[in-house]
Amino acid sequence: MDKPYVFITRRMPEDIVARLEASCRVSMWEYEETPVSQDRLEEEIKQADALFCNVSDQIDVDMLNQAQYLKVIATMAVGYNNIDIQAAADKGIQVAHTPDVLTETTADLTFALLMAAARRLPEGIDIIKNNEWGAWAPFFLTGLDIHHARIGIIGMGRIGEAVARRASGFNMDIMYNSRSPKPDVEKSLGASYADMDELLTTCDFVCVQTPYTKETHHLIDEGALQKMKEDAVLINTSRGAVVDEMALYEALKSGEIRAAGLDVFEKEPIGADHPLLTLSNVTALPHIGSASEETRQKMAEMTADHILEALRGETVSNQVV
Ligand code: DGY
Repeated sequence: MDKPYVFITRRMPEDIVARLEASCRVSMWEYEETPVSQDRLEEEIKQADALFCNVSDQIDVDMLNQAQYLKVIATMAVGYNNIDIQAAADKGIQVAHTPDVLTETTADLTFALLMAAARRLPEGIDIIKNNEWGAWAPFFLTGLDIHHARIGIIGMGRIGEAVARRASGFNMDIMYNSRSPKPDVEKSLGASYADMDELLTTCDFVCVQTPYTKETHHLIDEGALQKMKEDAVLINTSRGAVVDEMALYEALKSGEIRAAGLDVFEKEPIGADHPLLTLSNVTALPHIGSASEETRQKMAEMTADHILEALRGETVSNQVV
C-alpha cells in the first residue's frame, strides 16, 4: 500500500521531516521565511492525506472542498483562527493544534513586551544607536512602574494564567475578565474577576490574551479605548484583529492611552508604513510570542506527532475538532 502523503507548508528542520518520512511520503515548501504560495497550497490540499501548516496559511472552506484524502490538518500553533474549523469538521477532517508547550514562552514574551512598553526600552535603544544620548537628565525617558500597578488580563486561559503568575511575582494587583470565573487562579494568585468596564477603567496595563473569534473581533475598539485610563498601556500577544488598529492609532496619538506593546497585527507582516509604526509610544514585535528555540522545536515535533496519530487512525491528542 502507498505511504500516506504529507505536505508541510514551511521548511522544517531535518529531524522533523525524518520523523514523518519514516512512515509517510513527504513534500515541503522549501522556504522558511516565505509562506507557501496559494496555488501550491491549493494543489497540495487536493492530494494530501495530512497537512502540516502554521498561522500564516489560510485554510478556508473552498480549499477544504477540494480535499479528497485529507484526514488531518495539524497547525504548529495554539491559535487556529486561520482554519475553517466547521468546514473541516463537516468533512470529517481532524484539526490539531499545539497548546501547553508554548504557554510559558508566550507569557515570557508578553511580560517582556509589557516591560519594554512601560519603561520605553525601544526609545532608549534608538537614542543610543542614533548617538542622541545627551547628559543624564532627571526626567529623561521616565516610564511607568510595573510593580504594584494593576494589570487586567482579558482571557484567563493557559497563557493568561501564566501571565498572571508573572504579574504576581511583580506584586501587581491582578484583575481579569474571562468567559467564566477562575476560582483556582483567584485563590492561588489573588486575582479578581471584573467585568470589562471595570477592568478597562481601572487597570494600568490591559493585556489581551483571548483567542480571536467572531465574538472577539475588535473587542478593543474605540469605545473600549476611551474607557481606559490616560496612563494605561495596552498589550496584545493574542491576535491582531482583537484590537481595532485604527482606533488604537487614534487613541495613542491623541493621548487617550499612554502606550501599546503589540506582537500581533491585523495584517501580518505589518508594513513599515503602517500608521501605528510612526508612533514612539508603540513597541512592536513580529509575532514572536512562542519563538524560543526550544518551544518552536517542541511545537514542530508535536505537530508531526499529531499527523502520525491521525494517519494511524487515532484521534489526535490535541484535537480542535
Ligand atoms: C500561536 O501559537 O497561536 C502563536 O500565535 C504562533 O506561535
